[in-house]
Amino acid sequence: MSDLHVGDIPLVIAIDGPAASGKGTLAKRIAAHYGLPHLDTGLLYRAVALTVIDAGYKLDDHQAAARAAASLIADRLADPRLRERAMGEAASRISSVPAVRSALLAWQQRFAGNAAGAVLDGRDIGTVVCPHARVKLFITAAPEERARRRHLELQRRGETTSVGAILADIVARDARDAQRSTAPLKAAADAVLLDTTDLDPDAAFAAARDVIDRNRPH
Ligand code: C5P
Repeated sequence: MSDLHVGDIPLVIAIDGPAASGKGTLAKRIAAHYGLPHLDTGLLYRAVALTVIDAGYKLDDHQAAARAAASLIADRLADPRLRERAMGEAASRISSVPAVRSALLAWQQRFAGNAAGAVLDGRDIGTVVCPHARVKLFITAAPEERARRRHLELQRRGETTSVGAILADIVARDARDAQRSTAPLKAAADAVLLDTTDLDPDAAFAAARDVIDRNRPH
């Protein structure tokens, strides 16, 4: 583990990217390496969607989604159903509701305010949640490669779906996330782009560590 507390400047690391780009795996590994807490912000949106569904409301009921976001409790983030394929789609639908985004923004910023710093991964971390993050990474990979990886991951969890169906999901979700008017998926101007199409997890981690070590306080 690295020594972080040089000069007591918090190390906030913002990791954004499209669906199944590998940003979650990478973020977890970075957080462990630098001894920082990690928040997968996609889980917050998934948990709001699941709360809406469990309460019997429709996903286009914006008021129900806003209420679910305002009263979200951390315990919900451990529900294994959040990782299901359908929940990614549902999360993407409620994530365009401005009241949902503003309720979750406060949650995420509280997390990022940790004294030593934090690692957050999502879609708008470098642009909206932590615009002053010391390090910003934008992780991409070709859609076909992302579909292949997500397919393997779902298979391991026992969900059977075709790669083609996952690719269609990913393309639709990217388009929706990039086109929404509030906090769309987009690389911050000062983010470092990392294309992991031809990188295995170790190589992606080494590349990310390089960027972080060049940018963290010395
Ligand atoms: O990252 P994950 O696939 O779990 O995210 C699910 C959905 O939640 C995304 O497709 C996106 O619509 C939404 N999301 C978001 N902003 C974030 C994280 C996730 O809008 N910071």
